[in-house]
Amino acid sequence: MISYKEKIAEILAPHVDGLEKDEILDMLETPADSKMGDYAFPCFKLAKIFRKAPQMIAQTLAEAIGAESVFEKVENVNAYVNMFLSREEMAQEVVSEVIEKGDDYGRSNMGQGKKVIVEYSSPNIAKPFHIGHIRSTVIGNSIYKIYDFLGYDTIRINHLGDYGTQFGKMICAYRRWGNKEDVVREPIKSLLSYYTKFHVEAEKDPALEDEARAIFAKLEKGEPEEVELWKWFREESLKEFNRVYDMLGITFDSYNGESFYSDKMPAVVQELKDTRIVDELKEKGLLVEDNGAQIVKLDEYDLPPALIKKSDGSTLYITRDIAAAVYRKETYDFYKNIYVVASQQNLHFQQWFKIIELMGYDWADQCVHVPFGMVSLEDGTLSTRKGKVVFLLDVLNSAVEKTKQVMIEKNGPDADVDEISKQVGIGAVVFQELSNNRIKDYVFTWDKVLNFEGETGPYVQYTHARAASVLRNAGASAEAVISGEAAVDMSYVTSDTAYELIKLISRFPETVREAAEKYEPSVITRHIIDIAQYFNKFYHDEHILVDDEAEKQAKLALVCAAKQTIANGLGLLGIAAPEKM
Ligand code: ARG
Repeated sequence: MISYKEKIAEILAPHVDGLEKDEILDMLETPADSKMGDYAFPCFKLAKIFRKAPQMIAQTLAEAIGAESVFEKVENVNAYVNMFLSREEMAQEVVSEVIEKGDDYGRSNMGQGKKVIVEYSSPNIAKPFHIGHIRSTVIGNSIYKIYDFLGYDTIRINHLGDYGTQFGKMICAYRRWGNKEDVVREPIKSLLSYYTKFHVEAEKDPALEDEARAIFAKLEKGEPEEVELWKWFREESLKEFNRVYDMLGITFDSYNGESFYSDKMPAVVQELKDTRIVDELKEKGLLVEDNGAQIVKLDEYDLPPALIKKSDGSTLYITRDIAAAVYRKETYDFYKNIYVVASQQNLHFQQWFKIIELMGYDWADQCVHVPFGMVSLEDGTLSTRKGKVVFLLDVLNSAVEKTKQVMIEKNGPDADVDEISKQVGIGAVVFQELSNNRIKDYVFTWDKVLNFEGETGPYVQYTHARAASVLRNAGASAEAVISGEAAVDMSYVTSDTAYELIKLISRFPETVREAAEKYEPSVITRHIIDIAQYFNKFYHDEHILVDDEAEKQAKLALVCAAKQTIANGLGLLGIAAPEKM
């Protein structure tokens, strides 16, 4: 749909010679106080173009567009043009559009023909998939869904951390203290316990570190026994990760992780290796020798030097990231290459984005790092080394379990309780994750997550289920509205609450675009919380199932549109929208 914001930009464009429609679109504001209109256009910037005082420009513009039928009135206050939309026309148009488009409401084809890679989750194999990993996993999944909804051709990559010296330690520890049955039964917990023991023991006996290094060297040489174990750890780890991905409904198009880019790892077919990158950097004159190691100096750009190849000849995490980016450009010819990775790695990304640029790749600016803050638990943060870890799978399972208890307490036993508590429990965790600005740190608190009243997932899902129940109770009247058979007359719905709700619904498409531009799913989360709150106000303040059929249908149409918009929003967050709760 062409949004109201866009429509207004189109109306304004012919009157503002010096500005393109898109520039006007960016300048349009939504006043915090609806007394100042539904949209406002500030004219300060235009003073230069028109060589007039902004206030006079605003006045002229207000007069020029006032007669357009989308507006109820247009006023000029100081340097602003304040526009009030025609309630009736808007209600009619928005509601019928949402009902007609259904699941596609808010969808666009703006991204047609453009490839967008979203890299997310990317855990380290043989290490726990802990609560800290939820962030990249869930934020990334939502960003992928948003871009997909906007018509981009998306590719989801899980850049597994499946390579590095730690596998020397892991194999060493497994051989000393491990056994096969335990690994098969509980792969990551077992591997983790060996790995933790390794660190404890290595403090007493430093020779263990040498042993681990020697094992890693064998792995790099492709010795079958070591490779076999590494592969097995990788497979078992993936099986366990997939249990979490299944619960969250997440899949990937590629699991090409770090080992894929290392010319040392024999087990995977490789097309672009880290050593090619080292050669290329050398040819381009970017590599400098430093105590036997190879580095790229970046002090000109206020960044510390990047270590590309160690003195023992091994490449690093950053080398593989550069190789991966070049590989992705060659393989997918991306329009954007997005990395959803913790803000602790800001420097890492600044460094290698710079290196890509210095290598002369003009697509360097198509690589985007989307950072996020840390999640911690009420009793402190997480540490893999010390083995104090909260597994994401356990968190999800207990969210489902706790939800089930609440549901049984509330509604008594129900045949669908298992299915619904899965949707609500997992939805609650995901929703909380996507509620705040991603860059903020936050503390994971059960009380907050599972609260049915606050600005939470259960609250929004409950609102959706409530709307569904209103429609169910309305029977044939609702069916006629949903199917589009009834000629709904929205002039019956004129209250301020209803109008605020309709406005919020009408802004959903631009909210999705804003979320994409900012790589910020929380823009959608907050928007559907607003919709839920206004819907509930509407539900409490107004009698919906009135006797008058025309009025009833108009109100049901609004219920239907609100429900649909909430469902579409939840969908973009990767959360189910239950029909009953
Ligand atoms: N495996 C890394 C970690 O757990 C994250 C990888 C992020 N992606 C990347 N392309 N560097 O810290």
